[in-house]
Formats: sequence, structure tokens, C-alpha cells
Amino acid sequence: MFKLSFVIIGLYLISSSLGFLLQEPKLKIGSFNIQAFGQDKIGTPENVETIIKIMSRYDILAIQEVRDSTNEHVILNFVLNKLNEMLAGTGIKYNFIITGPLGASSYKENYAYIYRETTDVSSRKIEVVKHFVYDDVENVYGRPPFIAEFRILDSQLSIKEFTLMNLHIRPSYVFSETSAFRTVVDRYQNGVEKNIAIMGDLNFDCSFISGIKRNQVRSIISDFTWYINDDAATTKSTSGCAYDRILINSQKFNNAVVKGSNITYYYYLDLGLTTTQAAEISDHFPVEIDIN
Ligand SMILES: *[C@@H]1O[C@H](CO)[C@@H](O)[C@H](O)[C@H]1NC(C)=O
Repeated sequence: MFKLSFVIIGLYLISSSLGFLLQEPKLKIGSFNIQAFGQDKIGTPENVETIIKIMSRYDILAIQEVRDSTNEHVILNFVLNKLNEMLAGTGIKYNFIITGPLGASSYKENYAYIYRETTDVSSRKIEVVKHFVYDDVENVYGRPPFIAEFRILDSQLSIKEFTLMNLHIRPSYVFSETSAFRTVVDRYQNGVEKNIAIMGDLNFDCSFISGIKRNQVRSIISDFTWYINDDAATTKSTSGCAYDRILINSQKFNNAVVKGSNITYYYYLDLGLTTTQAAEISDHFPVEIDIN
């Protein structure tokens, strides 16, 4: 336990100090399950402050577990107003897209993306070309993937158009929901390879799926590279489970990933929080990659 945390902190320090020496990352994409991200959570100013600091790290962040049944998207409107207030004068302005409440049972959650719509730094703009919830005709998913096509207006990036698929897989259906990525991706690509990253809380580890089944899933979607591997610890649990994952398919997209940038972001180390304070925000940590 002590040894594991020591290794985790060590890896973290190495990756963040390398990041410091390298050029400013071109485009940082993350995924974060912000546990029960609803009214109760944003009722505490300290939580909001931490959440917006974490958000401000990313050009695009896929979020799971938003709890918002309003048509006005009150949770993300509130938080993004605070985020944009914090960034006033920097030229950076965030926007978001969000689904309605998803889920067949009484438990529902929304998926969202927040993204830097404009920034003065390198005058980059991020556009959402289109977005939709996957049409799950076979009824495989509890909460089908939220698919969004992004276009990045930035002459320096090697990749300017890609698609993100954001979801939170139900713990009891990890094998069936991850195997069905094959259908989701094939239907979406419709015979023409596209640049796709699947990202989210896939619950793809520990008691929810065996090593044998994990390998089966990997072979079903062997066109994808897994950027957060089985050794990662993406939750506060001491058993070191890699629930949160990022998978990327095309050669072009894979080539654009900055080596070593695929990490779990233990933000409490950066923000000077205790692990107890971090647990107020979520039982998960963000996972991330940089694109250049
Ligand atoms: C980052 O990606 C590389 C290449 O896929 C992989 O070898 C490495 O284990 C990944 N690191 C983490 C923390 O998952």
C-alpha cells in the first residue's frame, strides 16, 4: 500500500516534470467521472473552486455522472460561469455540450463535454461539428455513448478533426457494453476510417471484468490502442483499479498522441489538497492525453 502510493507519486512527479520541460502541450484531452455532480456538490464553494481548477487544465474534458434533470442545464451553466469568471481577461472561454438524463432505471446521469471554445494563446478555436447520443437499437447500453465530432482551428496541430465517444459503463455489464464498441464504431465509421477516441469510466478492471475477458474485448476492438493501461489506478480505492480509460483507433490519431502524456491526473498533489478533500470531489481521478 505504502509502496504502491510511493510508485504512483513517483510516476506522477516524473510525468509532470517532463511536461514542464517540453513545449506547452498542444491540446489536452481528459475524461473525468465527477461523482454525483449535481446540486449538492456545487452547493459547496470549495468544491466548485476545485472543480473549475481541474477543468481549466483541459482543452476538452469528457465528463460522466452529471446529475441534472433540468432543461436549463443548471449544473454546468453555474460551474462554467464560475470557470469563465476565473479566466476573465485570459482570452480563454469555455463552453459545453450535454445530454439529457440517460438511463432506463431510476438512476440517471448526463454526459457532457466542456471545451475551450476560444483562446488567445495561439488563437485556437474549438468547434463542435455535431453531437448525438448513440442510437442503441439493440438496447445494449444503460447509458449509450455521447458522440461528439470536434474541429480544431489551429494550424499547428497534426490532427484537426476527431470524434470522442464518452460513456459510463454499468459495472454489471462491462463485457457486453465494451464488446459492443465494435458495433458502435463500425456503424459510425460506415466503411470509412475516422479518428476516434473512446473515453470514460468503463469500469474495465478489478471485480467487474476478468483478465481473460479483458483480452477478449481487446481483440474485438484490436484497431484501438489503450492509453490507460491495466496498471493505472484511476480511483481513490487502494486496490489500484484502472476503471477510467482512453482508447484511440486511427494511425493518424495515434501518431498525434504525445508520448508519456497518457496519465491519471492526481490533482490533489497539484492543488495542495488532502486525499479526504479530493474524495469530496469524486472517487475517480481524471485520465488524460496530449495531442500535438
Ligand atoms: C501510455 O501509452 C503507452 C503506449 O500505448 C503505454 O505503453 C503505456 O503503458 C501507457 N501509460 C499508462 C500510464 O497507461
